[in-house]
Amino acid sequence: MISYNLRRLLCPLAIVILFSFLIVMKLFNNTLNSHQLPLAEIVAISPPPLTFEQLEASIENLLDPQSSSKSHQHSWNNLMSLWKYKLSIFMRDSCQLCDANRTECYETVNIDKYVSSVNDTYYPRIPIPYVNGIGLYYYFDMQLKALNNSILSVDTTQCDYFHMIQLMINIQIILYDANIKHFLTKGTLIGTLRHHDVIPWDTDIDLFIPAYTTKKLLKMFHLLDVRFTTTVLPSTSYTNDLIIYPFRNIYRVTSYKIFSSRSKQVNGTKYRWPKIDLFPYYENKTHLSAYPKHRHNLGTMDYILKSKVYPTYLRPLGPLLVPSPYDPKVSLKAMVKLGSNIFYACEGNTFLHRENRRSTETWRLPCKELRDSYPLVNSQYDQHRNICTETLLYQKKVLSMFKYKCKENLNRTL
Ligand SMILES: *[C@@H]1O[C@H](CO)[C@@H](O)[C@H](O)[C@H]1NC(C)=O
Ligand SMILES: *[C@@H]1O[C@H](CO)[C@@H](O)[C@H](O)[C@H]1NC(C)=O
Ligand SMILES: *[C@@H]1O[C@H](CO)[C@@H](O)[C@H](O)[C@H]1NC(C)=O
Ligand SMILES: *[C@@H]1O[C@H](CO)[C@@H](O)[C@H](O)[C@H]1NC(C)=O
Ligand SMILES: *[C@@H]1O[C@H](CO)[C@@H](O)[C@H](O)[C@H]1NC(C)=O
Repeated sequence: MISYNLRRLLCPLAIVILFSFLIVMKLFNNTLNSHQLPLAEIVAISPPPLTFEQLEASIENLLDPQSSSKSHQHSWNNLMSLWKYKLSIFMRDSCQLCDANRTECYETVNIDKYVSSVNDTYYPRIPIPYVNGIGLYYYFDMQLKALNNSILSVDTTQCDYFHMIQLMINIQIILYDANIKHFLTKGTLIGTLRHHDVIPWDTDIDLFIPAYTTKKLLKMFHLLDVRFTTTVLPSTSYTNDLIIYPFRNIYRVTSYKIFSSRSKQVNGTKYRWPKIDLFPYYENKTHLSAYPKHRHNLGTMDYILKSKVYPTYLRPLGPLLVPSPYDPKVSLKAMVKLGSNIFYACEGNTFLHRENRRSTETWRLPCKELRDSYPLVNSQYDQHRNICTETLLYQKKVLSMFKYKCKENLNRTL
C-alpha cells in the first residue's frame, strides 16, 4: 500500500525534477552562447566603452613602433571591445528605428561571430600581421543618415542603409568562414576614404574577391538554385534568406549580387535591392586584374601590383571595419574611373540601383560646398613619422578617427 502511494507521489515528482533540470540546462546553455542573448543584454554586459581620447591613445599606441607587442595587443583588445560595443548599440537602435518599417529588420546578426572573425584575422600577432592602419567611427549616428536628402537626391533611406549593413555583416561572416580574402573597391573605396562610410548618396557596397574562390563561395550559399519568387520565405535564418545571383554579360559572370529573398525585386532584373556586389578578380604572381567594367559601371581595373593591395587593413565603413587595399592612392587609380579628383569634386548618383536606371540628374559639386551637409574626412600628414591621420568632420564636430602608415597625404580640399 505504502509503496503504491509512494510511486504515485514519486512519478509526478520525477517529471517535475526532469523539467526543472531541462529548464536549468537551457538557461545555462544560453549564457554559454552569448550570441544567442538579445542585443540589449549584449550591450549591458559589455565592458564600459573607451572615451574618444582613450580611443585616440589606443590608435596612437598601435602605430607606435616603439611600444611593446604586449602593449599593442592590449590596445587592440580595447579597441575591439569598444567596436563590438558600438556595433551592438547600432544594431539595437537601428532595429528599433526600423521596426516600424517591419521588413527592414530581417535577420538576426551574430555580432560575436562577426567581431571575432575580424579580430582573428587582424589580431596583431608578432611578427606579422602588424597594424598598418586602424581607427573607429566613434560617434556613428543613424540620425545623420538621410537627413539632407533634399540637398542631393538620396535614394537610400535609413532602413535601407541598415539593411545594407546587415547584409554586409552576414556576407563577411561567410567570407571569413570560407577564408576568402576580400576588400573594398569602386564607390565603396571612395566612401571609406572620403566619408569613413558608404558615400551618403550611394546605393550599394562593392567588394573584390579572388576569382578562384567563387566556387567555394557558391557552395557556402544554400540557395544555389537561385530562386526568384515574389513570395516572402518564412525562414529567419540568414543562410536560408540570402540569395547569391551570378550576374553575367554575354561572355561571363562579371559580379555576384547578394541580397535578401525578402527584399523587393528590381524592376527589369532578376535581383533584389538592397544588395552587395562581389567582383571577382584574377591574379598572377605579381598582379591582380579584373574583368573590364560594363559601361554603366563606375569601376574599372586593368591591373594593379599585389603589393599595393596586400596586406589589407581595416577601415571604417560606418559602424563596420572592413578590409581595404593597402595603398589608397594607387588603388583608387586602378579601381575607380576618375572623372576628377574625388576629394575635390563630389559626383552624384549616376546609377540608381533600386530602380535599375541611370539618374535623370547627374551632378558634380565641389565637395567643400557639402561640408555642412555631410560628414567629410580631413587628412593630416606627419612626414616625420609617415603617418596620416584622418578625422571625419561634420559641422566642426569630429565623428571618427583613423590613422595609417603612409608615404604621402592624399590631397583634400577640406
Ligand atoms: C581578439 O583575439 C584575442 C587573441 O585571440 C583575444 O584575446 C581577444 O579576447 C579577442 N577580442 C575579441 C573582442 O574578440
Ligand atoms: C520607412 O519606410 C518608408 C516607406 O518606404 C520610408 O519613406 C521611410 O523613410 C522609412 N523610414 C526609415 C527610418 O528608413
Ligand atoms: C519597369 O520598367 C519598365 C521598362 O523599363 C517600365 O515601362 C515600367 O514603368 C517600370 N515599372 C515600374 C514599376 O517602375
Ligand atoms: C602578371 O600580369 C601583369 C599585368 O597583366 C603583367 O604585366 C605581368 O607580366 C604578369 N606576370 C607574370 C609573371 O605573368
Ligand atoms: C543639412 O544641410 C544644411 C546645409 O546645407 C545644414 O545647415 C543643416 O544643418 C543640415 N541638416 C542637418 C540636420 O544636419
